[in-house]
Amino acid sequence: MTSRSGNRRKRDKTRSPRTTAKAAPPKARQAKKPTPNLEKSADTGSATRRLPRPDGVLPEEALPLILEVAGNADYALLDSGDGLKLERYGPYRVVRPEGQALWRPALPQSEWEAADAIFTGDTDEEGMGRWRFPKAALGETWPMKHDGINFLGRFTSFRHVGVFPEQATHWRHMAESIESAGRPVRVLNLFGYTGIASLVAARAGAEVTHVDASKKAVGWARENQLMAGLEDKPIRWIVEDAMKFVEREGRRGNQYDIILLDPPAFGRGPKGEVWQLFEGLPSMVAGCRDILSDKPLAMVLTAYSIRASFYAIHALMRERMAGMGGRVESGELIIREDETVGAGRAISTSLFSRWVAA
Ligand SMILES: C[S@@+](CC[C@H](N)C(=O)[O-])C[C@H]1O[C@@H](n2cnc3c(N)ncnc32)[C@H](O)[C@@H]1O
Repeated sequence: MTSRSGNRRKRDKTRSPRTTAKAAPPKARQAKKPTPNLEKSADTGSATRRLPRPDGVLPEEALPLILEVAGNADYALLDSGDGLKLERYGPYRVVRPEGQALWRPALPQSEWEAADAIFTGDTDEEGMGRWRFPKAALGETWPMKHDGINFLGRFTSFRHVGVFPEQATHWRHMAESIESAGRPVRVLNLFGYTGIASLVAARAGAEVTHVDASKKAVGWARENQLMAGLEDKPIRWIVEDAMKFVEREGRRGNQYDIILLDPPAFGRGPKGEVWQLFEGLPSMVAGCRDILSDKPLAMVLTAYSIRASFYAIHALMRERMAGMGGRVESGELIIREDETVGAGRAISTSLFSRWVAA
């Protein structure tokens, strides 16, 4: 099980990778759009289970891939231990619960006491709680940066701060493939939250569609677009249930070159639609495959706070991308304590599986 925490200066590290060279020849892509044969779930109204197994050669695979993010000027994991973590987000030091920190803190107590904000409350990953500001009362937001993109950090009641810095490694990978495509690229960012990935994609030159169920989160994302000075970039902001949106895009024949999906374990669409990751993920990945363009570049799935290994989402992604060629890379996103101040221990935040074109 992984939890979420943050950081940025990203360096990708592959540990003991296992690779195979079973790339599908380009012709093997005729299985791209499997005949729909879906059952409707009574709970979600969305198509689940009984998906036909796509034909075609499985993509190459590379795993485990451990993508690591380390500290930089905008963000650092300074220390962790005793079930807590101490991070720096822009100007502020923040203390939050971290169930994986089974060890003792390495920095002296005085470093922890210098925190600007402490989250207290439910130690559950998604539990509610309150922020305490020991030095001076802070506003809800503060200026943050990611790789030169300005946005607002936020103290939210679910302990999150408006950005998941561990995603930076995926964002850099995405930006590189947009920039090197040499053609217009369409990106779909599902479960897009405060929109940092959408801004990274737009800055790299993509036309972006951002989907989230929360009107509030989409409002924050729009604010971030202004804050970043990227208001002239083509971003469609959509408040919608992600599954419904994908199904509708399939019916409309709209297609994307890159799809990012970072679903929670449990969530609700704006009309109360229920999202359960273990129920909905197979249909979601199948639906996303159906709306990939004829020259797709990537599909990136992250998952967190679930009782599963990356092997599970790896096998799902490989099965669903059969016949597409390319490679499926899977593993964990980790954040390492800043080695210049802390002990250099790693905290895993999420599992991921990404398909990348050959
Ligand atoms: C953890 S956030 C994703 C973080 C984001 N990828 C990032 O890096 O900033 C999960 C998001 O999923 C959204 N969500 C939950 N259920 C949803 C649903 N059924 N359809 C669309 N979005 C949903 C939430 O509103 C939330 O913003």
